[in-house]
Amino acid sequence: MKVVDDPLKVSRRSILGGSAAICALPQISAAAAAPRPPEDKMNAIPVKLKVNGKDVRLTLDSRTSLLDALREHLHLTGSKKGCDHGQCGACTVIVEGRRINSCLTLAVMHDGDEVTTIEGLGSAEKLHPMQQAFVVQDGFQCGYCTPGQICSAVAVLDEIKAGIPSHVTADLNQVSFSDAEVRERMSGNICRCAAYPNIIAAIRDVADGGKA
Ligand code: FES
Ligand code: FES
Repeated sequence: MKVVDDPLKVSRRSILGGSAAICALPQISAAAAAPRPPEDKMNAIPVKLKVNGKDVRLTLDSRTSLLDALREHLHLTGSKKGCDHGQCGACTVIVEGRRINSCLTLAVMHDGDEVTTIEGLGSAEKLHPMQQAFVVQDGFQCGYCTPGQICSAVAVLDEIKAGIPSHVTADLNQVSFSDAEVRERMSGNICRCAAYPNIIAAIRDVADGGKA
């Protein structure tokens, strides 16, 4: 009579072989679980910034985003954290004259840089013309995106003035203001309240010489 291998024996052996391989894994995880220094002692790096005209010195974990440095360390909470992933523009600030998403950049990368946030553009007593125009044109509803929209809008007008083209610029030698230019350049600033027509109107007012 033909002896047939017991399939169960085979699978038991392979299971045991697999278990032996798995037994080797804890060595890897033990190495990964080496004791970490306390959170506040990790990668602490001194950073010097000029924020809204004032020199500030901070000691930050190297992984701190510029947005967190502004909001959590300097308590400048005007810049908002909408997505923390570079998708909404609520965190837009102006660094060395250029607008950036502060959630997408590390504070330590800006050592020595000049940073302007919404708090530095104007004050309740003396609004920046762009802030004034947003009020006059009703360029917001809930206001969550507004600090980022205003910082972006201020920088957009500077970009146009400096002749920096966008994807919709027809003649690269003649960069000028148009609603299409503004829509394209402001496309990284999302407004969930959809105040877009009023935002464009506000920016147009300022471009027209500060009608607001
Ligand atoms: Fe930075 Fe959304 S919070 S882009
Ligand atoms: Fe509400 Fe823009 S005003 S998200």
